[in-house]
Amino acid sequence: MVSLIDDIEGQITFLFEGQPVTARPGDTVASALAAANTRHLRDSVVSGEPRGVFCMMGACFDCLVEIDGVQNRQACMTPVADGISVKRQRGGVEVAL
Ligand code: FES
Repeated sequence: MVSLIDDIEGQITFLFEGQPVTARPGDTVASALAAANTRHLRDSVVSGEPRGVFCMMGACFDCLVEIDGVQNRQACMTPVADGISVKRQRGGVEVAL
């Protein structure tokens, strides 16, 4: 179970799927979304099933999201910042050639 540390001051607001989410300085995108009870971060490219955080340490790549239009960002390794826009990653990644 995820719980917040109450003695961290400050507040950050970012968007997830266009909806505001409140976080604290030092949160990662994944920890902030977990604290907001958001578990579905991407869809499996193979099956389309929902995926979310698994390792929380950058090893499994189950937490890939789109941040400010950039795909394949690891939510568990990315510090949250005020005003960023995070979206679920759906389907395969587009590669610019
Ligand atoms: S949860 Fe495993 S890499 Fe992010």
